[in-house]
Amino acid sequence: MRYDVAVIGAGPGGYVAAIRAAQLGLRTVCIDERMDEDGKAVLGGTCLNVGCIPSKALLESSENYEKVREEFSSHGIMVGEIGIDVGAMQARKKKIVNSHTNGIAFLFKKNRIDSIQGRARIEATGEFHRISVSDGQEIEARHVVIATGSSPRQIPAAPFGGRVTDSSGALSFESVPQRLGIIGAGVIGLELGSVWRRLGSEVTILEAMPEFLPMADGKISKEALRQFRKNKGWSIHLGVEILSCESSAEAVGVSWRDAKGEQRAEFDQLVVAAGRIPNSSGISDALKIDSRGHIEVDECCRTNLSRVYAIGDVVRGPMLAHKASEEGVMVAEIISGMKSRFDPGIVPSVIYTAPEIAWVGKTEEDLKAAGIEYRAGQFPFTANGRAQAMGAAQGFVKMLADAETDRILGVHIIGPHASELVSEAVVAMAFSASSEDIASIIHAHPSLSEAMHEAALSVDGRAMHI
Ligand code: FAD
Ligand code: NAI
Repeated sequence: MRYDVAVIGAGPGGYVAAIRAAQLGLRTVCIDERMDEDGKAVLGGTCLNVGCIPSKALLESSENYEKVREEFSSHGIMVGEIGIDVGAMQARKKKIVNSHTNGIAFLFKKNRIDSIQGRARIEATGEFHRISVSDGQEIEARHVVIATGSSPRQIPAAPFGGRVTDSSGALSFESVPQRLGIIGAGVIGLELGSVWRRLGSEVTILEAMPEFLPMADGKISKEALRQFRKNKGWSIHLGVEILSCESSAEAVGVSWRDAKGEQRAEFDQLVVAAGRIPNSSGISDALKIDSRGHIEVDECCRTNLSRVYAIGDVVRGPMLAHKASEEGVMVAEIISGMKSRFDPGIVPSVIYTAPEIAWVGKTEEDLKAAGIEYRAGQFPFTANGRAQAMGAAQGFVKMLADAETDRILGVHIIGPHASELVSEAVVAMAFSASSEDIASIIHAHPSLSEAMHEAALSVDGRAMHI
């Protein structure tokens, strides 16, 4: 069978690339090897099946449980004895995942995209590239988009197996582990740690780096660590070297070394969340791969092979679903002959903990290192009426603007609904707005967005409510 475009991988990079290509009139096929636990082909990749969507479903359930337990009485709402049905939570999660993955299958049909279940490999390149699929099919395509994603990174001291699991395992626990160990205080460690801590686990996080969330703005990571350590049930160890790990039928023992010397603890489950590695091997022998395993691409996601593109987690840049999707749109449009670009400088990052953490653009540390003169404004949620009414008046919004032009260079938020608030900053930065632009725009009262408004006013030293 001959196609204009063959997309390998049906995650948020691949399925979006396929839909956009089909919208543009290109005959498109998408090949993905993923199957669910019942052996049924499923679309949506890591994000929909074992990533973004199931983790957010469990974060929501566990947050509701914690609110009922810890906060309802302060609202004057009295409830009787409360309990948890992990099976029901998992069933709800599964239903949400299924509705999303079925939704992609519907969109493929609607856009007349052929979908093949199997492992794909580029056998030969030419005017039409030849692709073999593990089910025995051979297809030809003028253009190929590789969107094969990433997989959990193993660490030699704690290999997966027994009570040592990856993020997918941690999304599927059938009961609440009393003692949960997590290796890695990155995004997965903090989000999945939050889920099980809220449901009652004692969570111990073992992080190699001496700093907490080093990729975030320094003030944000400091505040985040303070907030996490305030919560019961977290124990966060930094600057840790994992020495060994023994898994038995009853427990898993982990030994590590940190500034306090050698230590050991036993857990009911251990989650290794120490980053992810690109799925770049076995796709083509001719592809250039960098030293970290990413397929090498230029700013338009072109690989070293003519008319072969690569997008999403398998290439450089943040491993985020929305980044993969935007690259997918760009590549499909370039293939169809349009001029299309993607700005890597304004990719928002969100950590869905409580409080949420979100940012876009440069951190204060980035600006200092680059020698860029800037002005900073900050506004705390304690002075925001809506946050107070919600009982979520923690954290702040911080805005960084160029000292000379006032152009917004970065916005960093820790606090309620930071994931939604950051969008205003993304829009502002996409349109090269200044802090004065945001300061002069009306924001509804009472709303959390007023904290963004006040942070912008604060850049010029004229915040109203602090
Ligand atoms: P993937 O989604 O990984 O899809 C790649 C697909 O290709 C897979 O289905 C794979 O089976 C298939 N494949 C691989 N090789 C082949 C082959 N040779 N032939 C055929 N098929 C193949 N990101 C966010 O932005 N927000 C979040 O909240 C978020 N939460 C996350 C939570 C967890 C627990 C995890 C693990 C990740 C999370 N992510 C989140 C990251 C997000 O899931 C990834 O960035 C995103 O899925 C990358 O999309 P992709 O299309 O590049 O690859
Ligand atoms: P990560 O890169 O965010 O964090 C991994 C952490 O593990 C780092 O802090 C690292 O220093 C630490 N680490 C590595 N090796 C270690 C070792 N041997 N011992 C102790 N600590 C060690 O990776 P994570 O959390 O696995 O997530 C993978 C990707 O998934 C991230 O890049 C992220 O972009 C994406 N993701 C995004 C989410 C979101 O957008 N909300 C949610 C979950 C994942």
